[in-house]
Amino acid sequence: MVTVLSPRPDLWTLDPDVVHLNHGSWGAVPRRTQEVLSALRAEAEANPMVWFRSVPARLTAARLELAAFLEADPEGFALVPNASAGITAAFATVPIPSGSRIVTTNHVYGASRFAAERVARARGAELLVVELPMQADDDTVVALIEPALVGASVLLLDHISAATGTILPIARLVELAHDRDVPVIVDGAHAPALIDAPTGDGADFWTGNFHKWPAAPRATAGLVVAERWRQASYPLITSWSEYDERLPERFDMQGTQDYATWIAAPESLRVLADLEWSVRRPQVTAMLEEGARLVAKALGTSVGEVANPAPTLRLVELPMVVADAEPFKEHVSNELQIEITLTGFEGRSYIRLSAHAYNQPSDYEKLSEGLPRVLA
Ligand SMILES: Cc1ncc(COP(=O)(O)O)c(C=O)c1O
Repeated sequence: MVTVLSPRPDLWTLDPDVVHLNHGSWGAVPRRTQEVLSALRAEAEANPMVWFRSVPARLTAARLELAAFLEADPEGFALVPNASAGITAAFATVPIPSGSRIVTTNHVYGASRFAAERVARARGAELLVVELPMQADDDTVVALIEPALVGASVLLLDHISAATGTILPIARLVELAHDRDVPVIVDGAHAPALIDAPTGDGADFWTGNFHKWPAAPRATAGLVVAERWRQASYPLITSWSEYDERLPERFDMQGTQDYATWIAAPESLRVLADLEWSVRRPQVTAMLEEGARLVAKALGTSVGEVANPAPTLRLVELPMVVADAEPFKEHVSNELQIEITLTGFEGRSYIRLSAHAYNQPSDYEKLSEGLPRVLA
């Protein structure tokens, strides 16, 4: 018999008068991690010399804990400030000859697509975006991507699509691409804490954010590099670790910056462990599914159907198309004191609902009661 775990908003410092239903974008840092972070920054300000002398050893310890959380090979795990940096570094490493093709899908995150566009322009390559229908199952996804790999120099895939919350069949797609000698970059921004051992599918490069579902301080992300690319991979900022032989150390010190976030990040992993995240996650999923159904019913729409939804993201279709998401989100925030985000896919607009350990069923009830009024 599994115990039903209670929501723990008390572990966060979120405004209790606001309902937070968008953990997926910026995360939210638990109180305990904030305290560790503040203490580290106080140390830095008490004596910057002593602080910076202590950084390399502390960075190593934090990096190893973060790699272990992902069950990634620590020799191939580097710290980067965010998933965008990981993707940009990966594109800088992969050979992309003029006239070749960079392949991605219509699920690609906007900023990651821009990274692909920039590299395509610089190298004289073309960008091919494969259209995957929202409901596409794994077989369909594989069948649609396969023909695009002819003449491809690299394949960029979302592990969990930000637009739809769908999990792509990375292991199968990596095998397909490798059979055709096409390296794969995986944008795993949402994967840490949602997919267990997310880096184990054999991708050439995999990057993921710790500030999202592991609730670490922002600007904490990992880049996992397959062995054959480690010598050739460099951080985006050239600094003192330029000539470090090993990949993790080469990425560690990137000039003067706030290393406290990386050093404090493992505290959030300990908070997740204390929250019994592996037991809690399916319970959070069940709450979210119920909540999403409630909101869809109130709007007279439906929950977005995807074949493999991520545990803590669900789409609810809006009854109209929203051309400009920001004013809409701001209006809902001002009127209802509820924070949501929107996504668009295949010409439709959706609310993308999140759930984390601080959310409770009443959060979704409040949205289902208020939103029809705001849309009227
Ligand atoms: C799928 C995906 N990729 C990349 C990113 C970019 O992450 P960052 O802002 O940390 O670079 C996000 C952010 O939400 C995302 O959802």
